[in-house]
Amino acid sequence: MNEKKLVGEKAAEFVKDGMIVGLGTGSTVYYTLEKLGQLVKEGLQMKGIPTSAATEKLAHEFGIPLTSFLEAAYIDVAIDGADEVDAHLNLIKGGGGALLREKIIASAAKKFIVIVDSSKISEKLGSFLLPVEVIPFGYEMTAKQIHSIGCVPKLRVADGKPYITDNHNYIFDCKIPEDSQPKNLETVLNMIPGVVENGLFTNMADVVIRVTNEKTVLIEKKI
Ligand code: 5RP
Repeated sequence: MNEKKLVGEKAAEFVKDGMIVGLGTGSTVYYTLEKLGQLVKEGLQMKGIPTSAATEKLAHEFGIPLTSFLEAAYIDVAIDGADEVDAHLNLIKGGGGALLREKIIASAAKKFIVIVDSSKISEKLGSFLLPVEVIPFGYEMTAKQIHSIGCVPKLRVADGKPYITDNHNYIFDCKIPEDSQPKNLETVLNMIPGVVENGLFTNMADVVIRVTNEKTVLIEKKI
């Protein structure tokens, strides 16, 4: 059974005529994009705002019309994957390197839907290294500051060189302390000069779609 396909396609059901949709990044959202492309061909009226250059390219391939914040004042629904989800629907994101645009888009959305396969569910966040996007200038110093709050940063590398995000920044993948409080860590990391954003998404997801007993299950945020 392909859990990513099940949850990815399920999320497309939230998209209705006239909506502006935040389009996430990754191998799970791929199936949402594929499904939305099919629905658009069948007459669905929607426009997407992509969270990455990779998603923009896929949206073009699937025939999904795109827009931008120049035209759109808000997003009706954003759909995205995650690298880890805890019992309170806090997330670690950014495994695909798109965390900054993903967080801008999720925070502009009236509803943020997260789609995950079973491997992403966790009692407590931290088994996945936390991606932290930093500007290249002074990144060695930024690493020391990240270290000083108890995280262990490792520069993400691709083809022997620092990995470069769509925003021309670097990423540190960080081992976070065992006793971290996600909301506090999210705030404190972002106070370090040089940190642009981190992959903790606390109290942002409205709905998480996962698979249990081969069926999709919606877990909604407790208000
Ligand atoms: C990209 C992300 C992705 O949503 C996350 O990495 C999940 O990806 P996948 O669906 O491929 O497992 O945060 O920056």
